[in-house]
Order: sequence, then C-alpha cells, then structure tokens
Amino acid sequence: MADVAYLSSLLTAHPDFPKKGIVFLDIFPLLRNPVAFETLVTHFMHHLTSHTIPNSPTKKIDVVVGLDARGFLLGPIIALRLGAAFVPVRKRGKLPGQCVSATYEKEYGSDTFEMQEDAIMPGQSVIIIDDLIATGGSAKAAGELIAQRGCKTLEYLFIIELVFLKGHEKLDGPVYSIIQSN
Ligand code: ADE
Repeated sequence: MADVAYLSSLLTAHPDFPKKGIVFLDIFPLLRNPVAFETLVTHFMHHLTSHTIPNSPTKKIDVVVGLDARGFLLGPIIALRLGAAFVPVRKRGKLPGQCVSATYEKEYGSDTFEMQEDAIMPGQSVIIIDDLIATGGSAKAAGELIAQRGCKTLEYLFIIELVFLKGHEKLDGPVYSIIQSN
C-alpha cells in the first residue's frame, strides 16, 4: 500500500507532548500538503465505497459523525463526497438546542460529549470519524450517542490507531484505521 507508507512518512512524532511520556502523533503535516490530504481522503473514500465495511457490504451511509476537534477536519469532506449529512459531536456546552449526552473517562477525570438530538433520526446508518484512536473512550461515548438516537454505527474510522492501547475493544462496531502505530 504505497499510499499508507506515503502518509506514514509525513506523520511527525513529538515526544513528551502534551506531557511527559506521551509521544504525540501530529496529523497536521498531512493536511498542509495538498497531495497528502487528497491521498488521505481518497483512501477513506475507496474504503467506504468498495464494499469493505464488515457485515455491511452494500449499506448506504446516511450520516458522517465527526468528533471534536480533529474529526471536524475530515468528516465534512468525507460527508460531501458520500452525499451524506455531516454531524458534529462536541464537548459539553457548545451545541444549542436539545442534545443527547454521554460521559467518558480520560486520563484525569471525565469529559462529556453532546450531539444535537434532531441531527440524526432513528434507523439511519452512521459512521464515526476522528483523527486517532487511543484508549477509545471518546469514540465509545460517540457510539453511545448514536445508539441513544436509535441508530447503528456501521464503522469507526481513524487515520491512526494506537494499537497497544486496544481502544477498538471498547467499541460496538468495526474499526478501520489507515495507519497502525505501536
Ligand atoms: N490523542 C491521544 N493520544 C495521542 C497521541 N499519542 N498523539 C496524538 N493524539 C493523541
């Protein structure tokens, strides 16, 4: 997979950011290079349109849900190309109107995600996208919001999966990541 090797080569690792012991993988070099950004989006589109989602080979995707904050950089582009809706999941207190909410544990304390209640309707087919899956807590909370609206998450998509943290084990649907990091 030449495109995976190409995208991996552009990721930059920042040791001890934002705190000691964490090697932060920065996706922004991929976004500031238009060839890499196009390669990234084309890769996701090829995956989503070539019937490779497990157990959902021909399912139409109605909604692309992007997670606060870097999921907002990918989700709208994928949604537009699919002809699907884009819906943001945001940290508590940012979205107006009636919202559904789900709390998740972080390294220190907890956080709450919200989604506007009327943004997705029962029975719709949803995918969730973010830049990276670490422990999977935030993606799991997003999946709970989708389930609260009576919808199924067809797949969780990420540019990067930190495999050693086993975040995918928390999720109720298949996970697709372009780059697996150990
Ligand atoms: N989010 C959680 N862990 C991360 C990491 N190592 N790099 C980038 N984003 C992260």
